[in-house]
Amino acid sequence: MDRLLEINGLTKKFGPITAVDNISFSVDRGEVLGFLGPNGAGKSTTMKMATGYLSPTSGNITVCGSDVRRNPIEIKRRIGYLPEGAPLYGDMTPHSLLNFVSDVRKLSREDRRRGIEQAVESLHLERVLHQPIETLSKGYKRRVGLAQAIIHDPDVLVLDEPTDGLDPNQKHEVRELLDRMSSTKAIIISTHILEEVDAVCSRAIIISQGRIVADQMPSQLEERSRFHNAVGIRITPDNAEKCMSILHDISEVRSVEQVIQSSGLSELVAFPHNGGDIIGPVRSALDQNGLMVDEMFVEKGRLEDVFRNLTIGGAPNESGDDTGGVGVQEVANHA
Ligand SMILES: Nc1ncnc2c1ncn2[C@@H]1O[C@H](COP(=O)(O)OP(=O)(O)OP(=O)(O)O)[C@@H](O)[C@H]1O
Ligand SMILES: [Mg+2]
Repeated sequence: MDRLLEINGLTKKFGPITAVDNISFSVDRGEVLGFLGPNGAGKSTTMKMATGYLSPTSGNITVCGSDVRRNPIEIKRRIGYLPEGAPLYGDMTPHSLLNFVSDVRKLSREDRRRGIEQAVESLHLERVLHQPIETLSKGYKRRVGLAQAIIHDPDVLVLDEPTDGLDPNQKHEVRELLDRMSSTKAIIISTHILEEVDAVCSRAIIISQGRIVADQMPSQLEERSRFHNAVGIRITPDNAEKCMSILHDISEVRSVEQVIQSSGLSELVAFPHNGGDIIGPVRSALDQNGLMVDEMFVEKGRLEDVFRNLTIGGAPNESGDDTGGVGVQEVANHA
């Protein structure tokens, strides 16, 4: 295992505010770590310390075996960093900025040529290469920010909201780029887009009020959702009541919710006891009663649900206000 980033007991205080509170984690080569948390949770502050741009109040950071405080220049060679908001020099063009970054990084002529060529190609910057950065759209600015982060082919990539402001096609391209780079690097990305975690991350850390509240694979996080293994059924409204009563009578089903759909179909969600597998019993009960449904699917679990429970606090939400739909009605079963 090739541990490229190791953080131990990291804390940052700004006067009375504890922005980061005793955080420890590590990232290995080949991992893409998603950093999630509400606004102000401490994601950017942690990233600034991990990259050596902000000194911790206490704690240790090691990048590729070197201590960030003792070897600040050495670790910056090994890290690519996209800061929050992708700050850039507005009067430069992408071309002059990438050359400037290559100068600062003292890249050899060959590394500079290859680095700029690959970054420009990967992020589709050809069209805007000679246009002042301040005149570029938000998405292009972010792409220039990403280009400068990867130009020296770093071992560790720290990207603070890399897909913010990108259109859906570009989001997809950047996710593919991260995927291509992931086997040879350790990558940390912060994001507010939970589907991104499923799409690109091998692991996710949820941080709330400066502390880690979860550190797991995305699929393990989804298993913590009350929707894990729930069965969704779409059915015509005139059959909804009968379907609901059939679902109630299945002993493996804990409760049933009805979501009123704008499409005209009714959606019922049957929840299992303790995340158990209920698709078999649901299917046979519907078959036995000769009830036709339009659609039936098993839910993996909803990250949004887990995120809310972990960052708002309290026990898993059982009140039925969190299904992502309107007009939800939960009917407890076998209480
Ligand atoms: N330079 C600073 N001086 C004072 N307080 C700061 C400073 N930088 C950050 N903070 C505070 O530290 C806390 C964590 O901020 P941080 O920017 O790390 O959050 P974040 O998780 O990145 O949030 P977001 O999702 O909004 O980007 C916030 O309360 C913020 O106001
Ligand atoms: Mg931030």
